[in-house]
Amino acid sequence: MKESEDRYPFLKACRREATAHTPIWLMRQAGRYLKEYRALRKKYSFLEMCKNSELAAQVTLQPIEKFGLDAAIIFSDILIPLEPMGVEFEFAKGEGPVFHHPLRQMKEVEKLRIIEPEEETSFLMEAIRIVRKELEGKIPLIGFSGAPFTLASYIIEGGHSKNYILTKSLMYQDRPTWDALMRKLSEVLIRYLNAQIRSGVQAVQIFDSWVGCLSPDDYREYVLPYSKKVVKGIGENVPIIQFATSHSTLLELMKGAGGDVIGVDWRVDIGEAWGRIGYDVGIQGNLDPVVLLAPVDLIEKEVKRILDGVKGRPGHIFNLGHGILPNTPAENVAALVDMVHEYSLR
Ligand code: CP3
Repeated sequence: MKESEDRYPFLKACRREATAHTPIWLMRQAGRYLKEYRALRKKYSFLEMCKNSELAAQVTLQPIEKFGLDAAIIFSDILIPLEPMGVEFEFAKGEGPVFHHPLRQMKEVEKLRIIEPEEETSFLMEAIRIVRKELEGKIPLIGFSGAPFTLASYIIEGGHSKNYILTKSLMYQDRPTWDALMRKLSEVLIRYLNAQIRSGVQAVQIFDSWVGCLSPDDYREYVLPYSKKVVKGIGENVPIIQFATSHSTLLELMKGAGGDVIGVDWRVDIGEAWGRIGYDVGIQGNLDPVVLLAPVDLIEKEVKRILDGVKGRPGHIFNLGHGILPNTPAENVAALVDMVHEYSLR
């Protein structure tokens, strides 16, 4: 870690060092709840915005200009590296991602390409360089990717899923194909995250959003080796945050995959979760995004509950338990950021 980065509360909290206040950033902090984002989205599709470095940089900075957030996260999507791998998808209106040729067989996995991220996702690397320059060292920039399991679930199901029947069936019934797919995804994600780090991101978050659908034994058997491989492949260069949802039964196992911080959602008590995982890693979370739709006094009560739960212990990064909802009032976000800073002041 460079000495010049010691002043950032977010990076210090990732290393469990004491900070003057608890740092806060929000998953999906750049997005539809901002009128500035909606105005741009009238002119461009979501993927056009991701693939245009100038636009992606501009959108990344929108929430930074409005709120006193402690970190920026580069505007992109976990699905972005899949297209150069040879997996086609689109964002259908109001439906989320749709994959027209879901992948279920070994011969399809064999066709997937190991990408050269600096060339094939150069728009992202350039967006990272622009944002770093624009931020002028004010706050750090987070890069991200999906985790192998969550990306595999999209590729196999063909989109978002409720019960992950196709994903789990492939996992249980065709182990060679499952392993080949997870191996390829891990290799791509290591390259992709390292390219983001070389381009300038100062921490990375790995989104395993849907891994909570697995039993602990299945996580250990079919997923953990690959998540571990990705974390190991990034090395010690920057802090690594592992995020998932509905994963209260997997927390201890996820810690075994490595990294510096574990993200938790609102389904667990944050203080209890941290005690279980152990204080040798940081914790991120865990406000229910729906709370941000409520009046400010309720938001205040929940913020205090979370801050009380972690007892001012160094290593807590305040965040939502999942992405911010599109109908969130921007003034509640402003109030939240200020509250977290004020109530955690030490
Ligand atoms: O946090 C940030 O501000 C950075 C941007 C970011 C987006 N997606 C932008 C986005 C990040 C970190 C993601 C991660 C992502 N993408 C995840 C993991 C996090 C999670 O929510 O669990 C997943 C599962 C995806 C895949 C994805 N992208 C889905 C399922 C959808 C459709 C659902 C939805 O919210 O519309 C997206 C679209 C998406 N990704 C939008 C944004 C701002 C909305 C696009 C629009 O403007 O229509």
